[in-house]
This record gives sequence, structure tokens and C-alpha cells, in this order.
Amino acid sequence: MAFLNDNYSKLKAGYLFPEIARRVKAFTDSNADAAKRMIRCGIGDVTEPLPEAVRAALHKAVDEMGVRETFKGYGPEQGYEWLRKAIAENDFRAHGIEVADDEIIVSDGTKCDTGNILDILGAKNVIAVTDPVYPVYVDTNVMAGNTGDADARGAYAGLVYLEGNEANGFVPAPPKQHVDVIYLCSPNNPTGAAATRAQLEAWVAYARANGTLILFDAAYETYISEPGIPHSIYEIPGARECAIEFRSYSKSGGFTGVRCGFVVVPKTLLATTASGEKKPLHPLWLRRQTTKFNGVAYIIQRAAEALYSADGKAQVRALVEHYMGNARILRDAAQSVGWKTWGGVNAPYIWVKCPGSLGSWEMFDKMLHEANVVITPGAGFGAGGEGYFRISAFNSRANAEEVGRRIKALKI
Ligand code: MLT
Repeated sequence: MAFLNDNYSKLKAGYLFPEIARRVKAFTDSNADAAKRMIRCGIGDVTEPLPEAVRAALHKAVDEMGVRETFKGYGPEQGYEWLRKAIAENDFRAHGIEVADDEIIVSDGTKCDTGNILDILGAKNVIAVTDPVYPVYVDTNVMAGNTGDADARGAYAGLVYLEGNEANGFVPAPPKQHVDVIYLCSPNNPTGAAATRAQLEAWVAYARANGTLILFDAAYETYISEPGIPHSIYEIPGARECAIEFRSYSKSGGFTGVRCGFVVVPKTLLATTASGEKKPLHPLWLRRQTTKFNGVAYIIQRAAEALYSADGKAQVRALVEHYMGNARILRDAAQSVGWKTWGGVNAPYIWVKCPGSLGSWEMFDKMLHEANVVITPGAGFGAGGEGYFRISAFNSRANAEEVGRRIKALKI
């Protein structure tokens, strides 16, 4: 009989969002009225239709696939050159950031990329995550055997947890100790906090002094509204020598169901072999992708390219403004009943301190049963999230307004 990967038995319960869906279903199955009233502000899944520019590009690409002369079979695993060029020019070089077309590797999204990146890293790394944290970073390290068991609070032995808290505005500073790899997410999922230039400079200085690799998740960068907040880690001098950046069209172009993103691996980024040699990571990621991935569908890459057209950019802006309008409504409602909030300014998530002495799953149940609103309990994002919860602003305006009213009517 085959041996299974025992690391999976270390994982806590199910993955957070399926677990929430299971609890919501258990409640709504026996509460038909509540099921009808239910508004979902849990998982950060987009609700608004795909931009017109994207739909037009999809239709055109589908028609090309229907004609022998323009039909496409396997594409380049790392993405078509025209998309990589559009990305490098629009997302980086237009902002004075040095990124070459072939440093971009197109993918089916950041969740997959931040998990898959472990394939090219060694087994001996000391890995740090912030806490609270996007659970994919932790769970994929557990699956890869980079951790021991979880303790009673859900913290895994072998991982270094950097606490985000009210005192540091949920943006932890570099630790005193040495770590080999750190996952940073800014604007942050789940807390909505965005790292300032000074905070990212401190991280890059730490990484360069310690030979640390920064895995920088910028999936929410389109939501940055405050001037001066970096959109890319490469805005910080020296980051090309210490950071990989992950980007996604899920939340900018409404691609959660379409699937497309990309990774930037600078050719100047080195890591150490077991024998102590310094070698670039770029060829390893390319090798990994060309071996294990057949690339994103042609029609989807054309759809992503359309986001960089003048119409596409305006339509993305309109989507972001819509969701951030919701974020304002939800944040204002939470604050009006005296709840303490973070985020919702540079990110579509509002991070809220649970009122009274409620724990985060208790708050989840209260919102579910009494307001018929699904939120995400902070504890699902790690021990540091206990006592907090996250409200997602991805919704229709009418639903956001209704959630605001229900928050105001909730009896604590
Ligand atoms: C979230 O709700 O945290 C996100 O939608 C999860 C994801 O992007 O994978």
C-alpha cells in the first residue's frame, strides 16, 4: 500500500473558507427564512460582472480559437510574450520600477503561486509569517513538511510567527532573530493594513542583512488609495536582490472565477545551495512552471491583457471604487456602534475588534444567527486573529448598505 503524506494530518480542521461554508450550510439548511436573508461578507469573492473590455477580449479570443489559422494549442508555460510585456510596462516600468518582461511568469493566481513557490526552496529554511496571516502560507508549509505539530492555539512548531497587533497597526516589524524566508502581504489580507514605505524599507534592509527571501503578496495593490503607500516591493531600492512579488487579477479585474495572476522573479535574486554557492532562483521557477504547469489558457491571457487597455484601466478603477464605497459604508457602520476597526482604506477588508468579550467564532455565530451575515472569524487567520473578525467589502451596494443597517440593529 502506498504511503501518504503524513504532514496533511497536522493540518487543523478544513481550509478556512470551506469550513465557514460548511457551518453556514448547517445553519441555513434548517432555517429557510435566514437562508433567504443571508448576506455573505466572508470569503473575499468578487460579485460584480467582468469589465466590458475583458468580455470583448474573451469573445474575440474564443472566435480566434474557432478558426484553423488563429487556433492556439499549448502556449508558452510562462505566459505569452505580449502579456508579459504589457504587465512589465504597465505595472512596473510606467511607475519607474525596473522589471524585465521575462522576469514575469504568468499563472492561474496567487493562492497557487504562494503555495507552489515552496517547490524551489530548500527544506532547512527558517520560515516566518505574520500573525494574523492568509492561511495558505501556513498550510502549504505544513503540507511541505516545513513545520512540526500545531499547539493548542493552532501555532505550528518550527514556524516563526510575527505578531500583528493594535500597537504595531497590524504591520509587524522585522524580528531580532534570523529568518530565511518571510511572507509579507500588503495591503494585508486579512487586516487591511498597508505597509508604509519606511516599513518596507526596514524589511528590505533586514532581508539584505540576513540573506532573507521576502515573498511579497501584492494581490490587493489596486486598492491602495493613500499616496505614498508602495504598490510594489520593487519600489524599495535593493528589493530586486531579496524579493519575489505575487500579483493577481482576481480582485482587480474580477477574475476570481477566471483565474490569472503572475509572479515576478528578478534575475538578480539569489539563494544558497546546500554547498553554500549562490545561485539565481529565476531559472528554478521557470523550470518548475514549465514542468508542472501548461500555462494559462490563451483566451484568459487575452482577457488579462485587456485590463491594460485604456477602457480596461477605467473599468478596473470603477470596480475598485465600487468595492471601496462598500468598505466605507461597512466601516462607518461598525464605527457608529463603537466597534474598533482597521483597514477598509487601502484594502477591501475591514478588520474589527470583537465587541465585549466575544471570541471570534462566537462573533461569527452571532452575526450568522442574529444578523444573517457571514463574516470571517479572526481566529481562522491564526492565533493572533482571536478576538477580531473580518468583513469583506466584496458585495453589491444594496447588500453593503443592508449589512450596515443590520450591524446597527445588532444587540450586543
Ligand atoms: C479571502 O477571502 O481571504 C480570499 O478570497 C482568499 C483568496 O484570495 O484565496
